[in-house]
Amino acid sequence: MMRTQVGIIGAGPAGLVLSHLLALEGIESVVLESRSRQYVERRMRAGLLEQGTVDLLCEAGVGDRLRREALVHHGIELMINGTRHRIPLTELTGKSVFIYGQHEVVKDLIEARLNAHGQILFESEAVDINGLDSDLPTIRFRGNEAIEELRADFVVGCDGFHGVSRAAIPSGAVVEFQKTYPFSWLGIFAAVPPSNDELIYSYSERGFALHTMRSPQLTRLYLQCATNEVIQNWSDDRIWNELHARFPDPDWTLNEGPIVEKGITDIRSYVIEPMRYRRLFLAGDAAHIVPPTGAKGMNLAIFDARVLADAMVDWYRSGRTDLLESYSGTCLRRVWRVQHFSWWYSEMLHKLGDGEDSSFQQQLQLSQLRYITTSRAAMTSLAENYVGLGVV
Ligand code: APR
Ligand code: PHB
Repeated sequence: MMRTQVGIIGAGPAGLVLSHLLALEGIESVVLESRSRQYVERRMRAGLLEQGTVDLLCEAGVGDRLRREALVHHGIELMINGTRHRIPLTELTGKSVFIYGQHEVVKDLIEARLNAHGQILFESEAVDINGLDSDLPTIRFRGNEAIEELRADFVVGCDGFHGVSRAAIPSGAVVEFQKTYPFSWLGIFAAVPPSNDELIYSYSERGFALHTMRSPQLTRLYLQCATNEVIQNWSDDRIWNELHARFPDPDWTLNEGPIVEKGITDIRSYVIEPMRYRRLFLAGDAAHIVPPTGAKGMNLAIFDARVLADAMVDWYRSGRTDLLESYSGTCLRRVWRVQHFSWWYSEMLHKLGDGEDSSFQQQLQLSQLRYITTSRAAMTSLAENYVGLGVV
């Protein structure tokens, strides 16, 4: 039986930021991660950080490489049936966004934790959580060979949407909210310089497409596709042809290059309320999922970790429980703002189907897009959500 102060399940951005912030205040944690270190450091995920997230990482002392290597973006483009419009984010809000892969964030945090002799147990899959009715809950996990146990003052589920933590909460103790969408995303990484300095969100008759990047040598592209789509049906040629068709600006060329990875992502919105059951707290994707349009997932996960770290530090220092009590409410106010933004931005940009009111919906989308690209007030609303609002 191992004993620690805070038992954290999952070495993604939420779990690692939490462990790091706690350590800065002298609180010990153990992070259990089902995958290997190499696997999590190479797993390509999200890649856009809000200014507030970057500030947080820098203040926590894990921003050196981020400051050197991240690409700073001061605007985004919307392409509407081939016509490009720029949203000048920094001019409108004073803030910027940053391109820096989630796996790079994870790498920096793992290095910081291990340098500080922090404990991250890789290839240690949490199986279940017991004793939530007591003051010392226990996580059972698959260790080297046998099932082992980790006992802690608190357990934090940072194990993503498909983890085990959420399932440890009795169903009567929480409410779940969810929405599905009639589309998925097909995403590729292409080993070729980005075709534009900024992201391009394209609304087209053939459906949504997004041009984004991870570095000056690596382009990330997405295509809206059907929910039942299988990647085997998408040859590299078919993907490039469809991408060219979805960015129908005759004066702009999409650079082609070797496709180094391709995959399909489900799109959904999900929230569990509250993000806590007794001594179990949920953070990040374990508690909420947003559609990827707008790239908010990693930012929300890191914000949850910050709020929870502050609450736990306060409890260990003074025994006060008020910040622990308000953890879920504080996070959920921001989560719901982001849920609304991600839903709204998704519904504006995707082809919504061929139902009987689809041509009506299409006219609404086009009107909304014209409004966003011509009214400074509407543009500012998009921009302030995009760069990240504080607590609302
Ligand atoms: N035991 C131990 N670890 C687990 C278990 C388990 N039973 N189940 C999942 N994990 C690990 C996963 O391998 C992963 O490394 O938990 C980690 C969860 O990390 P993320 O999925 O990155 O979740 P989070 O830290 O909340 O960050 C959210 O991830 O999916 C993206 O777009 C999302 O950018 C957002 C970010
Ligand atoms: C990404 O780079 O993966 C990304 C960027 C912006 C989005 C979605 C995804 O809105």
